[in-house]
Parts: sequence; C-alpha cells; structure tokens
Amino acid sequence: MSGGWQAVDDYIAAKLLGDDDVLAATLVNNAARGLPPIDVSAAQGKMLCLLAQMAGAKRILEVGTLGGYSTIWLARALPEGGSLVTLELEAHHAAVARLNLENAGLADKVEIRTGPAADSLAAMAYGVPFDFVFIDADKQSNSLYVAEAIRLGCPGTTIIVDNVVREGGVIEAGSDDERIIGTRALFDMLAADPRLAATAVQTVGAKGWDGFVLARVI
Ligand SMILES: C[S@@+](CC[C@H](N)C(=O)[O-])C[C@H]1O[C@@H](n2cnc3c(N)ncnc32)[C@H](O)[C@@H]1O
Repeated sequence: MSGGWQAVDDYIAAKLLGDDDVLAATLVNNAARGLPPIDVSAAQGKMLCLLAQMAGAKRILEVGTLGGYSTIWLARALPEGGSLVTLELEAHHAAVARLNLENAGLADKVEIRTGPAADSLAAMAYGVPFDFVFIDADKQSNSLYVAEAIRLGCPGTTIIVDNVVREGGVIEAGSDDERIIGTRALFDMLAADPRLAATAVQTVGAKGWDGFVLARVI
C-alpha cells in the first residue's frame, strides 16, 4: 500500500506543484553533502507555505532546519519585510542550508542559529512575536519547543509539529522509544494547556504513515 501512497504523492506533485528548480537543487545538494533525506515532502512543503500565507505570517520560527527545504517553502510565504529564524543543532546542516537559501534568493529573509534549539530558544527574549512556528527537530523535546513557541508567540500564533503519529507508535503507552515518549508528552501537554486550541491530522504519502499537530495560541 505504501507504494500507492508514493504514487499518489507523485500525482499530486505533478498536478499541483509543478517543476521547481530551486527545491530540486536543494534536495540534490543535501544528498551530495551527506544530509539524510528526512525533509518534508513537496506536498507537505506547499501545505506549510499555504498555511503560513493563510495565517498572514510575517515572522516565522522553525525548529529543525536540516538543509533548509522546509525553510525555503516557509520563507516563500513571507511578505516584503517578513523574516524567519530557523534553529539547527548541526553546524554542517546549517552550512548546507545557508548555501541552499542563498541559491533560493532567500538568505536575506532567513537567520539560521546553530546549536541545541533549547539553548537558542532560552536565549531569545520576548520581542516582536512569532506568528507562525514549525517544529521538526528532536521529538523528545517537542513539549519544551511548544512551550517556547507560546512564550515567543501571541494570541493567534499558529504552531505546527511534524511527525506526531510515527506509524501509529503514538498510541503505544509502554514504548521505550524516546521519540514516542516525547510525542505522547506533547499530546498530554496540548490536552492540558488552556493557552492552546489543538488538533492532529494523520497523513500518508511519500514519507509513510505519520501526521502533524496543528495548534493555535488562544
Ligand atoms: C527532520 S530534520 C528537519 C527537516 C526540515 N524541517 C525539512 O523539512 O527540510 C530534523 C533536524 O533537526 C535537527 N536537530 C536535532 N536535534 C536538534 C536540537 N536539539 N536542536 C536543534 N536542531 C536539532 C537535526 O540535526 C535535523 O537537521
């Protein structure tokens, strides 16, 4: 069946996304420089771009840059004068992302901060709030990242957290997989925190069976 998911994603991409030399070159560059192919899919990237546009995002925060594939989709949603801050642990990933963002003509809109995202976030004082946040890094820290997104956001801020279904692993209460434990802690937090309205949507496609959380700061 998963072969069918890939074929349908290919159909969606061919019909609705078209050729995109910049994004294709980003994936080629990532592979050539040894980055793992764990970026969002093209259909998911365009969804992020559309959601950011629908939210009227002017200031975007991303946690988990890799080679900047999702960053490019998100930065394309920004209006004139908009900006994006993206956080990445690995200096090599950040360097590749910088190249890709330059090739995409988006380097002036995007700031990459290297190091553990928890440290980068803790160092950020509240200022102009982020109005759109995409979280896609180490899954065990998701609750912390959402708490920081609330602190650095404002009422109306959109928060998306990727990979929250994990082929159904999210319902395994006894799992010893740290990513599943972290994801379940995230759901506990979302269920209990009155500052958020949240749902989660399961997805299948080129990236298998997974899903994302969609939340809004109240
Ligand atoms: C799934 S990839 C991000 C994919 C990217 N959002 C995309 O779709 O193109 C996760 C990234 O998070 C980074 N990461 C892992 N742990 C991190 C941490 N503690 N702080 C910041 N980044 C981290 C990894 O190095 C990796 O580049």
